[in-house]
Amino acid sequence: MVIGTGYVGLVQGACLASQGHQVICVDIDADKVNSLRDGKVPFFEEGLEVLVGEGIASGNLQFALGAEEGFTQLTPEVVFLAVGTPTGVDGSADLSIFESAVKSLVPYLTPGMVLVEKSTVPAGTGKKVLEWLGRDDIAVASNPEFLREGTAVSDFLKPDRIVIGADDIATLEMLKSVYAWCEAPVLTMNRESAELAKYAANTMLAARLSLMNEIANIADLIGANISEIETAVGADPRIGSKFLRTGAGFGGSCFPKDVLALEQTGRDLGYESQLIRPIIDVNTRQAEIFVDKVREAYGDLDGIKLAVWGLAFNAKTDDTRESPAMRIINLLLEAGASISAYDPAAMNEARKELKDRITYGKDQWGILSGAQGLLVLTEWDVFLSADYGVVMRTLEQPLIFDGKHALPAETLRDLGLQVIGIGI
Ligand code: UGA
Repeated sequence: MVIGTGYVGLVQGACLASQGHQVICVDIDADKVNSLRDGKVPFFEEGLEVLVGEGIASGNLQFALGAEEGFTQLTPEVVFLAVGTPTGVDGSADLSIFESAVKSLVPYLTPGMVLVEKSTVPAGTGKKVLEWLGRDDIAVASNPEFLREGTAVSDFLKPDRIVIGADDIATLEMLKSVYAWCEAPVLTMNRESAELAKYAANTMLAARLSLMNEIANIADLIGANISEIETAVGADPRIGSKFLRTGAGFGGSCFPKDVLALEQTGRDLGYESQLIRPIIDVNTRQAEIFVDKVREAYGDLDGIKLAVWGLAFNAKTDDTRESPAMRIINLLLEAGASISAYDPAAMNEARKELKDRITYGKDQWGILSGAQGLLVLTEWDVFLSADYGVVMRTLEQPLIFDGKHALPAETLRDLGLQVIGIGI
């Protein structure tokens, strides 16, 4: 059983069903459950809707409204908790939704069942779960996910590693059997280690990005090219070449939330981190530095018409949470620019936040007419492989602002476009 049908829970449920497990996904949102029963996924994640359809057709994947209905349809051996854990007021993870999900299960759990933290929860939460349950015949384990939105299905089916944390061998063995189909190494450890490993991984990745972005800022000042530095640094096997791409900062619902929550976990335990908070501060400033670049190009942004390609925080997702694109658009609007934007998947999500403060294109081309420059803020393939000859002929001024450092700058320059980014 999987509790919560968001990005994490639904991928978990549909992928496990695809591997032959009998799965029921439970949610308390009736509209979501009805739509899922019809095979419709209420958000975009590549490959997920197909997998959900196949799961329903095979009979391996079912949906239920609320825990009571779920337990009537299936008696699970394992229950995965995959509900939201947003940032609370002090930066810590807000566990209120998670807590009420745990408590809603109490009447239905039978002795020997394993309750698994799949949501990202601070180290030590497992102990709280045992208190909320108020019984000792249920095992509580941690099995963090390392999925990226946009590639979550393939990340799940071909993971680098499976991390399982529990305090007894029987629980570890039970959870290992859930992943018996998987070739990746299964790393078993105590529950606190598994909980903390998830925060460690995300904080490490976010730190790497903020550090590279700071190096890009310095590169700009001395006329160095950050793309070349990225290649030079990444060639060191101790560092590795992945996750070094710089630009206008990182986004998404995970890095900012988890980095702040790790800082707060330390603080709650009496440890004041020196290194964690600046990861977020650098990232926030990066969008501002990028907007300064746009401002420099025009002198003044008041009345400037700009086209934006990309609103989602990552390609292949419709998720705009903490998206650098949204941050940048808000800053540009404050400076008096007018914006027309297009994203292959995230238009509806963006509209919820930006409303009628910008105009929305039907495709990526229409918004270029009359625009004095183009900002590329999400690395969708359709943007990277676009015909920039057409872009060059359509824009009023040949200015491209690359917020993701993903465009072939040399080719664009050969076409007569000026490519502007941080450290490029
Ligand atoms: C991240 C982690 O990568 C996953 O391992 C983890 O499971 C997930 O958080 C989570 O905690 O659920 P996600 O935020 O979905 O995944 O997506 P990423 O691909 O990591 O991208 C995050 C942000 O970093 C994006 O804005 C992306 O554009 C940016 N990024 C990524 C860069 O700026 N440079 C890079 O080299 C890579």
